[in-house]
Amino acid sequence: MSTERLTATFFDRFREWPAVIARAPGRVNLIGEHTDYNDGFMLPMAIDRAVGIALRPRPDRRVRLHSLDFHETIDFSLDALTAHEGWAGYVQGVAWALQDAGHALRGWEGVMAGDVPIGAGLSSSAATELAVARAFAHVSGLPWDPKAMALLAQRAENQWVGVNCGIMDQLISAAGVAGHALFIDARDLSVEPAPMPEQARIVVLDSAVPRTLAGTAYNQRRAQCEDAVRRLQPALPGIKALRDVSPDALEAHRDLLPPVIYRRARHVVTENARVWASVEAMGSGDMARLGELMLASHASLRDDYAVSGPELDLLVELAVHAGAWGARLTGAGFGGCAIALCRAEEADAIAREVIGAYNGRTGRAGYAFVTSPAADAQVLFVV
Ligand code: GLA
Repeated sequence: MSTERLTATFFDRFREWPAVIARAPGRVNLIGEHTDYNDGFMLPMAIDRAVGIALRPRPDRRVRLHSLDFHETIDFSLDALTAHEGWAGYVQGVAWALQDAGHALRGWEGVMAGDVPIGAGLSSSAATELAVARAFAHVSGLPWDPKAMALLAQRAENQWVGVNCGIMDQLISAAGVAGHALFIDARDLSVEPAPMPEQARIVVLDSAVPRTLAGTAYNQRRAQCEDAVRRLQPALPGIKALRDVSPDALEAHRDLLPPVIYRRARHVVTENARVWASVEAMGSGDMARLGELMLASHASLRDDYAVSGPELDLLVELAVHAGAWGARLTGAGFGGCAIALCRAEEADAIAREVIGAYNGRTGRAGYAFVTSPAADAQVLFVV
């Protein structure tokens, strides 16, 4: 996100400089996929790509916002929220969630732009939600509590827009720490920054495969996990979610589950264990071990959870062939992006080699960029 472009566009439209820029980052998830809605563990990091809003307060209760990415202006009253779809749905959804939680909001106007690829599984929607929440919090004088704001943004997405996502994307956008991935426990929302070793870089590999089935299949996976818990409960009383089931306990009671449900559950319980192992590997700077765990996560997502696809599998295979320590799909799957864990000095070359080979073999317009762990949603003061 270029602050110069935002402030210059703001100046063109309003003939003065913006009061502030509210910005919030997209994310990749290093490991811990499809675990958040199972009360489990994950290790995402905010990336150095973000959605930004240059803005100034208004004296009334209207919001007027121009999106440079969608070439569209929305203008609405905080007393008449109606849009549930598209980017306007995210903006109004956040206003709804904040007001529904009892916050008194003021109006504002501004310009929004982002460089988080849209629809690629890097959480451009969570970034939009958190940037909008930051904007409202600033003009309305609300205290900024990252967890509370992440929960409100998730509520906007679940109940206003109608996407049944977990908490990971909003929480990492709200609470990311520069130079660190964030260990998250989705049950109590506790977070623990895990420093990213200096010698490592993450290469984001966009498959350019649209995530069309993502919504339906995502909800189906969630339902299958809940089904597994219901079927295991008679044997394991006290379990509330797959987070409470160890890999050994699952094996001991696998006869209670139909084969597909067993495989879905096996992904979740082994993935939770891999997150803990990954935190340990990061702590000791053992990137080869982290790479292995990422590959095991990908295999589990491919074979047990069935959310990969030939293109994501190919990106992972090419990344390993090019010399990455490890690689895996990131986010919900069904298209979108893979990530590769690379030595800093090799990251650019790996990005080029993998995407060159991928585009040549698939005829798709995939692309790659190297990223580092970035900070959380913030308000930047323009002076
Ligand atoms: C999407 C959802 C997250 C999480 C991931 C899978 O990104 O928004 O809550 O469930 O998929 O790990």
